[in-house]
Amino acid sequence: MNNNMNIAVKKKDQVINTIKSHENLLSCPICHNPMFVDNELLKCDKKHTFDISKKGYINLLTTNHQGIYTKSLFESRNIISKAGFFNPMLEALERILKQCVTKESVILDAGCGEGSHLTQLFHRLGSKGLYIGSDISKDSIQIATRDTAELLWLVADLKKMPLSNQSVDVILNILSPASYEEFHRILNTEGRLIKVIPGKNYLKEIRGLIESDKKSYSNASVLNHLSEKMEIIETYEINYKFNLTSELAKHLMEMTPLTNHQVLTSYVDQLKEVTVDYMVVVAKF
Ligand SMILES: C[S@@+](CC[C@H](N)C(=O)[O-])C[C@H]1O[C@@H](n2cnc3c(N)ncnc32)[C@H](O)[C@@H]1O
Ligand SMILES: [Zn+2]
Repeated sequence: MNNNMNIAVKKKDQVINTIKSHENLLSCPICHNPMFVDNELLKCDKKHTFDISKKGYINLLTTNHQGIYTKSLFESRNIISKAGFFNPMLEALERILKQCVTKESVILDAGCGEGSHLTQLFHRLGSKGLYIGSDISKDSIQIATRDTAELLWLVADLKKMPLSNQSVDVILNILSPASYEEFHRILNTEGRLIKVIPGKNYLKEIRGLIESDKKSYSNASVLNHLSEKMEIIETYEINYKFNLTSELAKHLMEMTPLTNHQVLTSYVDQLKEVTVDYMVVVAKF
């Protein structure tokens, strides 16, 4: 067996072991019955069956809809993330998580994209607990599995999570859509949502380049909606500047859903730094 095949087998085994050691964690996205591993497949009693990929993830989507983002957007996001762009946000998340995570905790990153935030948090927190990254995009989850097989990676719609009722202690929801009904179902009664949303100055230099994006952004409607559904416990604002090389500027423009990539390519050499502005909201039901 060559080395690549060996690693692939190990990644699949790791997924199987994780599922076996967390009985009743996964529930069928079609009939909601518990799921279990049988003959290297994930099944429920009603015989709905899902493959466990040798790359180390499970695709639990029930439709072909895989979101709107391209693989190259996630590759650029991965490069930007590894260049340290998100580090101050991750430091804030690490501080918050340290207060609530134990080795028994189940931490879900709903809409995890290419997975680098969750992977970094897993290492920063000393690998305590079970970390689950889920995203509707198979491309993004395939990138996530390149770096680690120690986390559980799921291709899943956050409106139809393949997780049992009250099985999760912390939901991270970083710059991604939310489903408060589904979060309510899967979060345990003491559980917390930690949601990151853009602040009004987020990437204002890029918005300034696009005529239709020039009016300033407001997160008020997202916050209002969240406060109608959950009780906000605390909020943190994180503001900083990030220096760019022209290579990073190119990836930044490609990774951000708010931009018209073609229009922006001509500005790559002019963009030397950008403003990063987030709000982190901790909430409970
Ligand atoms: C702006 S990206 C943020 C990704 C990642 N959290 C990050 O900060 O790099 C939004 C993510 O939400 C995912 N997404 C959108 N709708 C979704 C859904 N219904 N279920 C799961 N993921 C979804 C997209 O595929 C994408 O990865
Ligand atoms: Zn089923």
